[in-house]
Amino acid sequence: MSSQTLAGRPADTDSVRDAVVRLTDVRRHFGETPAIDGVTLTVRKGEILGLIGRSGAGKSTLIRCLNGLERPDSGSIEIEGREITGLSEQALQPLRRRIGMIFQHFNLLSAKTVEENVALPLKIEGWSKEKRLARAAELLDLVGLAGKAKSYPAALSGGQKQRVGIARALAAGPALLLSDEATSALDPETTAAILDLLKDINAKLGLTILLITHEMEVIRTIADRVAVIDAGQIVEEGPVWSVFADPQTATTQNLLAGIRPGLPPAVAARLVPGPGGSDAGETILGVDLSGPEAGTLLSGLSAEVAGRLRLIHGGIDDIQGQPVARFFVGVPSSAGAAAQAIAYLERRGAKVEVFGHVADHA
Ligand SMILES: Nc1ncnc2c1ncn2[C@@H]1O[C@H](COP(=O)(O)OP(=O)(O)O)[C@@H](O)[C@H]1O
Ligand SMILES: [Mg+2]
Repeated sequence: MSSQTLAGRPADTDSVRDAVVRLTDVRRHFGETPAIDGVTLTVRKGEILGLIGRSGAGKSTLIRCLNGLERPDSGSIEIEGREITGLSEQALQPLRRRIGMIFQHFNLLSAKTVEENVALPLKIEGWSKEKRLARAAELLDLVGLAGKAKSYPAALSGGQKQRVGIARALAAGPALLLSDEATSALDPETTAAILDLLKDINAKLGLTILLITHEMEVIRTIADRVAVIDAGQIVEEGPVWSVFADPQTATTQNLLAGIRPGLPPAVAARLVPGPGGSDAGETILGVDLSGPEAGTLLSGLSAEVAGRLRLIHGGIDDIQGQPVARFFVGVPSSAGAAAQAIAYLERRGAKVEVFGHVADHA
């Protein structure tokens, strides 16, 4: 699939100059398995790009290609404008240091203190001990662990361990932070705190982040853009609000299923196809609209049908400051109210789906 045809969204043309990472038609097969199957993807300077896909989609293989642990069969990978695919192991080293990584299981050295863990990449770079520890202290302060420098990892909570991981990843001043399921082992509250920290670092330092996850909630919380990977191919890509508002592929719709309003099963079970006749029942509509108009859609609809409206599920959400309306309503099947509601919604530019009708909603 070429980048021009990605799920109906126009390809970006302004991303070349500001690219921290550029993958072009990258392939990596394992025998018959096309783990990466022609991936073209750009990570722009200063952005948080979320890469989402279910297990086995190719995310880890992509990361290993990026940091040079795996060689693609074909295609191009540029890090800050430098092609890395043909480089020797030795020539790769300095480029690898431009990428900081954080992991699901933190990967801290248990026999070393927190500050020693953070300072380790600097030791490899040949920094003096004094400078290393000063830098570690600065980073521990940044991640909110100023008091823990002399602790050992075993004495820390999962969230604190990940903070150490983040500090260590930032030690050498990378151009890119690669996060591989970094919150997958954490509880929801700790996950939110770590995502907050990453967002904060992105804003404060302008650090570019490529965040790999299988959870849409993570993408929703901090990513600017999202790319969806399935069977080694990027099947959809765009601003988070746009992909959430109007997912173009079944893969994305499935990934969104848990966090996007849907028609409640109890209502779906009582549906009769068609708009309904002159009975006392109601017609069930699904409504989608994003953008500035979306904020007033529900109140406008209610006024249009003089309040003869039942909100079943959903509402108006805010994603990256964009109103995104998605709701399910019942309107009286009789007296033309349903037809009037549909005409109004379509006039406002909304996408309307008529699910059918229920005989009564008692
Ligand atoms: N070293 C390997 N040898 C053979 N098959 C592999 C290897 N690494 C990954 N794969 C296969 O490639 C596909 C993508 O795997 P992976 O990149 O680990 O996906 P993800 O990280 O999205 O779960 C899977 O079908 C996996 O079984
Ligand atoms: Mg993986």
